Amino acid sequence: MENESRVAINSAADIVTARQKGRVLAVELGFDGSELTLIATAISEVARNIVDHAKRGEIFLASVHQGSKRGIAVVARDHGPGIPDVDRAMQYGYSTGKGLGVGLPGAKWLMDELDIETQVGNGTTVTMKKWLH
Ligand SMILES: Nc1ncnc2c1ncn2[C@@H]1O[C@H](COP(=O)(O)OP(=O)(O)O)[C@@H](O)[C@H]1O
Ligand SMILES: [Mg+2]
Repeated sequence: MENESRVAINSAADIVTARQKGRVLAVELGFDGSELTLIATAISEVARNIVDHAKRGEIFLASVHQGSKRGIAVVARDHGPGIPDVDRAMQYGYSTGKGLGVGLPGAKWLMDELDIETQVGNGTTVTMKKWLH
């Protein structure tokens, strides 16, 4: 498929790369000014979670189609410790680290869809989508 890319996340610098590549793809897909910032911010948060909580992983960026809807998909995948309680992790202000605990609930709010697949000891995959309107 065209309009696809992958960013390896190994350090804080890679968060910036993922954010920039996501923004470029979102522009290509037709998202506008303020939405570009929302998408880029959501990408930063899931990339930061990889660095903070799983050390390394990857971000996939792609265009998606569902019926007549078109949009951007962002998949953040790692083989870190996993999330034991996803409902809790999605609560505003909940953090097991030194963070503010607003990354995941914030990303869900900024995007149209956010799904978490995770297994303790095996890793986490966060899939987010935002649709053009
Ligand atoms: N990729 C991940 N791997 C393991 N745990 C994660 C991951 N992403 C998020 N979490 C867990 O979910 C919690 C909430 O995430 P978030 O809302 O981004 O808050 P913060 O990163 O500030 O702690 C984290 O504190 C952590 O326990
Ligand atoms: Mg976070």
